Amino acid sequence: MNDVPAQPKRRTRGAARLLLGGACALAITVSSMALATFARADLSGPPGATLKAAAERSGRYFGAAMGADRLNDSGFLTIANREFDMMTAVNEMKPDATEPNRGQFDFRAGDAIYNWATQRGMRFRGHTLAWHAQQPRFWGSLSGSALRTAMIEHINGVMAHYKGKFAYWDVVNEAFAENGSRRSSNLQSTGNDWIEVAFRTAHAADPSVKLCYNDYNIENWTYAKTQGVYNMIRDFKSRGVPVDCVGLQTHFTGGSSLPGNFQQTLSSFAALGVDVALTEADVTNASTSQYQGLTQACMNVPRCVGITTWGIRDSDSWRGSENPLLFDRNSNPKAAYTAVLNALNAASTTVPGTPTAPPTTAPPTTAPPTTAPPTTAPPTTAPPTTAPPTTPPSTGQPGACTATYRMVNSWGGGFQGEVTVANNGSTTLSGWTVRLTLAGGQTIANVWNGINTGTSGAVGVRNAEYNGSLGANTSTTFGFLVNGSSSAAPGGLSCTSP
Ligand code: XIL
Repeated sequence: MNDVPAQPKRRTRGAARLLLGGACALAITVSSMALATFARADLSGPPGATLKAAAERSGRYFGAAMGADRLNDSGFLTIANREFDMMTAVNEMKPDATEPNRGQFDFRAGDAIYNWATQRGMRFRGHTLAWHAQQPRFWGSLSGSALRTAMIEHINGVMAHYKGKFAYWDVVNEAFAENGSRRSSNLQSTGNDWIEVAFRTAHAADPSVKLCYNDYNIENWTYAKTQGVYNMIRDFKSRGVPVDCVGLQTHFTGGSSLPGNFQQTLSSFAALGVDVALTEADVTNASTSQYQGLTQACMNVPRCVGITTWGIRDSDSWRGSENPLLFDRNSNPKAAYTAVLNALNAASTTVPGTPTAPPTTAPPTTAPPTTAPPTTAPPTTAPPTTAPPTTPPSTGQPGACTATYRMVNSWGGGFQGEVTVANNGSTTLSGWTVRLTLAGGQTIANVWNGINTGTSGAVGVRNAEYNGSLGANTSTTFGFLVNGSSSAAPGGLSCTSP
C-alpha cells in the first residue's frame, strides 16, 4: 500500500495561463542585470527578523513563487520584498508560456517577474524547461525524434535568453510515476534518455546555472518514487550527466504529511554530490509542526540550500482552500511563519562554499593567541615511536594516491573541511580510501563526494560511486562538516587505493 497519496489536484491549465494576446514577441532583452545578494553565512550573528535574513545566516535562501498577476498587488509585493531573497515564476517560464508557437519565444511575462525580483536583490530559480504538463500546443502533434528535437530547441531558446542570470533551473519536472518507474508521457516516449539529453543540452546552453531535477512525493525515503529518482541521480552522477541539484516540491497534504525520514532523504541525495532544495512548499492548514520539521530537516543538511513556498499568502496558493502558506489573506504572518523563522535561526550547518561574514570580533592579526603557540608546546606523546613506517595502514597501495586537507570555513561550533585526493601516478586508480583522525570532541555531521566510516576519532572516507576512478595525474575532492568547539585540522592523513 502506498502511504503517500497522489499530488493535490491541479487546476486546469487554462485557468492559470497567461493571456498575452496578439502575436508573440521575439526575445525581449532582460533589461536589468542581476543585483543578487549572495548570502554570507554567519551563525554567530543576531537572529534574523525576516525569513530571508534568518536563512542567510546559514548561507541559505528563502524563496517564493509569484505569477505576473501579482506585479500589481501591493500587498503581495510588500511581503515579497521584505521576506524573500529568491523568486520563481509560477507559470510564466513553463514551456507553453515561453514558446507558444514553434520558434516564437515570448519572455515578456517571465521577464517582468525576473526584473522585479532581481532589481530588489533577489536571485532567481527558473521553472521549468521540460515537463509532461503545460506544454506548447504544437508539442502535442509531435512525437519521436521530432518531439525530441523540439524539446532541445526549446531548452536552447529559453536558456539563451536567461543565460548567466539564474541561480537554478528546473530542467526536468515530474518525470517519475508513483511506483518509481518513469511516468509515461510524450517526452518519455521519445526514448528513456530524454532526461539526460535535456540536462546535457541545458549544460551546453548555460554552464553557469545549476541544473535541477524537480518532483513531488519524493520526500519519504522509503517510498518507491523517491528511490526511483535517487537511482537516476546516482546513475547520472556516475556517468557524468550534468545534474547539480534535486528539488523536492514538498507539497504536504492531509494524507501525505511530513515523513519522519525527510532529513534522511535530503542527506542521501546530497551525498550523491548534488544540492537539494525544498522548491514548492505548502502544507494543508499550514501545520506549524510540519513547517517547523521541514525547515529543520533542511537546516540540518549542509547541501540543503534553501526553501521556496509556492506563493506567499493563502490567497496566492494553487491550493487556496487549504490555507497552506505562511501568511493569511490579510497578509498577516501565521503561527507557522514563526515556527519557520525560529527553525531558520536555529540552523547549525552552513551551505558548503558559502562565504563567511567578516569577523565582527578582533581580527586574527591583533588577537593574541589564546592557546600556547606551537613552538612552546612540547609534544605530549613521543611521535617517533608511534609512527614507524613499517606497517602500511591498509591492504591498499600506500603512495598510489595522496590526500591534502584544507579548511574551507569555520565558526563557533565547528568547521567545514575539504580533502583533495590526487593520483600522482601513471595509471588510473579504481578507488581510494582516505584515513584521518579528528581531534577530541570533534564529530562529523555530514560527508559529501565520499562515504565515511566512523564520525569521530579515526575516520575512513572512501570514494563515492561516481568519483572512484582517478586517472593519472588527476584529483578529486570530498567535503565534510564537523561539529566541535575546536577547528583543529585532522591529523594522520593517508590515502590508499583501491
Ligand atoms: C501549478 C500552478 O501553481 C498553477 O497555477 C497551474 O495551474 C498548475 O501548475 N508542481 C509544479 C508547479 O511543478 O509548476 C505547479 O504549479 C504545482 C505542482
